[in-house]
Amino acid sequence: MRMVDIIEKKRDGLELTKEEIQFVIEGYTNGDIPEYQMSALAMAIFFKDMSTAERAELTMSMVKSGDQIDLSAVEGIKVDKHSTGGVGDKTTIALAPLVAALGVPVAKMSGRGLGHTGGTIDKLEAIPGFSVEIETDKFIELVNKNKLAVVGQTGNLTPADKKLYGLRDVTATVNSIPLIASSIMSKKIASGADAIVLDVKTGSGAFMKELDQSKELAKAMVEIGNSLGRNTMAIISDMNQPLGLTVGNALEVKEAIDMLRGEGPEDLRELCLTLGSQMVYLANQASSVQEARQKLEEVISSGKALETLKTFIEAQNGDPSIVDDPEKLPKAKHLIEVKAKESGSVSAIVADKIGTAAMLLGAGRATKESEIDLAVGLVLNKKIGDKVEAGDSIVTLHSNNEDVQNVIDMVLNAYSITSENVEKPTLIYDEIH
Ligand code: URA
Repeated sequence: MRMVDIIEKKRDGLELTKEEIQFVIEGYTNGDIPEYQMSALAMAIFFKDMSTAERAELTMSMVKSGDQIDLSAVEGIKVDKHSTGGVGDKTTIALAPLVAALGVPVAKMSGRGLGHTGGTIDKLEAIPGFSVEIETDKFIELVNKNKLAVVGQTGNLTPADKKLYGLRDVTATVNSIPLIASSIMSKKIASGADAIVLDVKTGSGAFMKELDQSKELAKAMVEIGNSLGRNTMAIISDMNQPLGLTVGNALEVKEAIDMLRGEGPEDLRELCLTLGSQMVYLANQASSVQEARQKLEEVISSGKALETLKTFIEAQNGDPSIVDDPEKLPKAKHLIEVKAKESGSVSAIVADKIGTAAMLLGAGRATKESEIDLAVGLVLNKKIGDKVEAGDSIVTLHSNNEDVQNVIDMVLNAYSITSENVEKPTLIYDEIH
C-alpha cells in the first residue's frame, strides 16, 4: 500500500477501506508516514468528508494506537460523560457524585485546564489534600466500593490522536467534523466506557458557535459510538455565557457543592439533571429517563448525593469537611467589584473573555507549565436577561493581587448591556440519539 494512492483516493472523494485507514494510522504513529503526507490527507478529509464507516474505523485505529484502560473489573455499566468544553463548566464535580449515589459506576479520567477553559482535575485539587494520582488497581477498587473515582490522564492513550491533533492545529484542519468526532470518541473509548453521554456545547463560548454545526458534530459522535457498540447519546447545551455563576477552581467546587445541596444556580442544576438522567438510564438504573430524573432529585433532597461526594473526597485523601464548611476552601485576599457603566439588560456575556479574565487572575494556565492559583476567579452577579443599573456590581473578582485593571477591562468588554428587554437564553437545545 502507498500513502500517495490513499491521499489521491480521498482527494477524489472516494471511500477509504478499513485496511487503508489502519495503514495510515499505524504508519503515522510509528513515524513511517511523514507529516507532509498526513497533512495532505487531513486536508483532503477536510474537503471530502468521511462516511460513517470510515469515521468509525479512524476512531478504532486511533484507539488501538496506544493503551486502553481495562475497566472490565468494574461491576455494572460504565457510563462516561464528555463535554466539548466551556467556561465555568463544573458539571462533572456535581454530576459524578449525583449519579454515583444511584449506583452508577463512575470511573472518570479527567484533564487539566489550558487557556480560557478550566479542567476538572485542577478544580478537584482545590480541595485540601485531594489526590488524583492513584494506581489502576486502587482506582478500580474505589469505583467498586464507592461507585466513584477520578484519576488524571495516565498512560499512553491514543498517541495517534495526540500527534494528529498537533498537526491539525498548524495545518488549518482542526475544524473538520469527521476529525473532531473521531478524536473525541477515540479518547472516550480508550478510557473504557461502555456507554457515553455527550454534552455538546453551542454558542459564542463553544468550539462550535452555530447550532447546526453543533448538531452535526453531536450526530457524528453518536453514530461513531453506536456503530462501535457503545450506547451513545448527546445533549446540545448553551455556551453563549458561562455555566452557573462562578469561574475559578475553589469557587466552582463550592458551586458544585451548593448544587448537590439543592441550592445554587438553576442552569447548573438543570444541566446536571438532564445529563444525569441520561446516564442513569443508559446504566440501566431506571426504566425511563423521567424515572431517572425523579431518582436524582430524591438523592439531592435526601442528602445522599452530598454523602457520596464526602465519601469520594475522603477516599482520595481530601478533606471531606469542606462539604459542610466550604469556607475551608482556598480563599482569595481581595474581593473587587466590577461595576456596570450603563443601565439596561444584559444581552451578551462573551464566555471566552470571562475565561481569559479568570486566567489573568491566575485561575487558568497561559502555557502548559504555568502554576495556577486555586483560590482566585470571578463570580457573575448578572447573567443574560438580568436588569442592571449603572454602578451595580456585575462581577466580583476574587483576586490575590490588587492591581487588576486589565481584568476589569476584560470583564467590561465581555458584557453587552442594551436598553431593550432581553429573554434568558435556552439552556438545552436538543438531544441526539
Ligand atoms: N477536542 C478534541 O479532543 N479533539 C478535537 O479534534 C477537537 C476538540
